[in-house]
Amino acid sequence: MQAAVEAKFTEETVLWVKQHTPKLLTFAITRPEAYRFSAGQFSRLGFRDGAGFIWRAYSVVSAEYADTLEYFVVLIEGGPMSARLAQLQAGDSILLDKTAFGFFLPGRFTDGEQLIMLSTGSGIAPFLSMLQQPAVWERFRHIGLVHSVSHANELIFSQHINELIHHPLIGEYTDQLTYQPVVTREPTAGALGQRLPQLLQNGTLAEGLGLNFNHEQTRFMLCGNPAMVTDTFQTLLDMGYSMHRNKVPGQIIMENGF
Ligand SMILES: Cc1cc2nc3c(=O)[nH]c(=O)nc-3n(C[C@H](O)[C@H](O)[C@H](O)COP(=O)(O)OP(=O)(O)OC[C@H]3O[C@@H](n4cnc5c(N)ncnc54)[C@H](O)[C@@H]3O)c2cc1C
Ligand SMILES: NC(=O)c1ccc[n+]([C@@H]2O[C@H](COP(=O)([O-])OP(=O)(O)OC[C@H]3O[C@@H](n4cnc5c(N)ncnc54)[C@H](OP(=O)(O)O)[C@@H]3O)[C@@H](O)[C@H]2O)c1
Repeated sequence: MQAAVEAKFTEETVLWVKQHTPKLLTFAITRPEAYRFSAGQFSRLGFRDGAGFIWRAYSVVSAEYADTLEYFVVLIEGGPMSARLAQLQAGDSILLDKTAFGFFLPGRFTDGEQLIMLSTGSGIAPFLSMLQQPAVWERFRHIGLVHSVSHANELIFSQHINELIHHPLIGEYTDQLTYQPVVTREPTAGALGQRLPQLLQNGTLAEGLGLNFNHEQTRFMLCGNPAMVTDTFQTLLDMGYSMHRNKVPGQIIMENGF
């Protein structure tokens, strides 16, 4: 039994850890040559824990072609994995399940011209990976990246997103991108201030992105707080959009970020 579990993961090395706020971390680990994933998928990361293991899901932030694997973590008070990650340091060992998981993939949409990425908290992670793939820019004429957080200091990727223009592979496409931060608990310059369902209902989100949402052209991907995913999905259904299924094309693909 133990041998079967051991065969399913590799032991990797933490390369660096950055603490952005007391509860927000990014870190990178070594990538085994055999590790394959598609932008939008998540890894299972783990630690040995007594006689067993602790495993949790983390979306990959890195590009599919990156030499290392980067992750973005929101530390949860009292959370068992968060307690381990809060201690993480360069040089530590971390376990990586050999398989990448998930179907949160923009390539599943077969039509549409605008891709709207709606995220809360750590739900921005899979979108940061997707944005580094030339294919998504070739596929969609406009991309809107929306990140909702409670407080302005949680918008830790704003500078990175603004600097994508210098990215060697996708920099040339970034005039197709609009980034719209949302800060729900304090007025913040440049950010919208309501939750995503309200912003969709009252038209402020489309206005902020400078896009005219419509059933023919607009495709939505939702990732983050499960309550946000449920409420936003319902709002989009009320607006006449439908879930995308491979056999019944629609406009919405979603993933609960925890
Ligand atoms: C598909 C998938 C992808 C995920 N990707 C990420 C990721 O990229 N980054 C990340 O930080 N976490 C991610 N998670 C959550 C992660 O797997 C852990 O649950 C999280 O790190 C907390 O682990 P824990 O053991 O400390 O607490 P747990 O016991 O696992 O969680 C305790 C509670 O904390 C809350 N919570 C858990 N994760 C989050 C979160 N990210 N933001 C806000 N509240 C949360 C929930 O209410 C949960 O019930 C993902 C989960 C899933 C299912
Ligand atoms: N952020 C805080 O102030 C705070 C305080 C205490 C504990 N915590 C805990 O810390 C952990 C991480 O929190 P987090 O702030 O990173 O993640 P989060 O609670 O998921 O919040 C991220 C963003 O999602 C929004 N959101 C939450 N529910 C929504 C819904 N149903 N529809 C639309 N938007 C929704 C939040 O808006 P709102 O700001 O309006 O909720 C916020 O903008 C969680 O376990 C949380 O319970 C957070």
